[in-house]
Amino acid sequence: MKSIVILISGRGTNLKALIDAARLEDWPARIVAVISSREHAAGLAVALKAGIAVDVVDAAAHPDRLLFDQKLAQALSRHQPDLVLLAGFMRILSEDLVRDYHGRMLNIHPSLLPAFKGLHTHRQALAAGVRVHGATVHFVVPELDHGPIIAQAAVPVFPEDSESALAARVLAEEHRLYPRVVRWMLDGRLALVGSRVRVDVPQDQLLLDGIVKGVRS
Ligand code: GAR
Repeated sequence: MKSIVILISGRGTNLKALIDAARLEDWPARIVAVISSREHAAGLAVALKAGIAVDVVDAAAHPDRLLFDQKLAQALSRHQPDLVLLAGFMRILSEDLVRDYHGRMLNIHPSLLPAFKGLHTHRQALAAGVRVHGATVHFVVPELDHGPIIAQAAVPVFPEDSESALAARVLAEEHRLYPRVVRWMLDGRLALVGSRVRVDVPQDQLLLDGIVKGVRS
């Protein structure tokens, strides 16, 4: 049985989606720990409620990035994870740490990368006037919101959309997308070979399409 550690910084709705997926009978892995970079992240309660061990490596207490990363590396190695999932983890990781988990560390980002990296992605999308927005799951590399793209979920942007309405539409797709990609990983259908993603997944599953579904809030 493979072990997963999930890194969070905030409310933990993606964490909850992953926990729900992991509860399925045939799920071939266990979430062994959740590590938060914020002491009061709401996601910690989500983990505790599910009986998952929690750890905090408080970014506020470690303004020095390298020291923070050392602490995080120690916390991670205590759990010996096969897979590390960033789920709303808002810290840039050092090259060394990312290298240690090369091909075994995934992130979800709320935009169709490479568009709209960084923060406030929904605001960025509205300002740019795009008609399609979404979320991306990718392998983690040292550069923020970069890294080989595995799969994406696309949603429509409506003229009357507020930032929060658009965020909610994307988030619903994130919750469908991330567990699905993690399952591919666990089933050995997905790997990072050099800098390329090798997938043994039908092409039409790599883009979750909330547009065709006619999502309308
Ligand atoms: C999610 O929208 C996730 O994609 C985003 O933070 C949010 C966390 O929400 N991640 C990033 O922006 C990473 N660059 P959650 O705590 O409810 O899962």
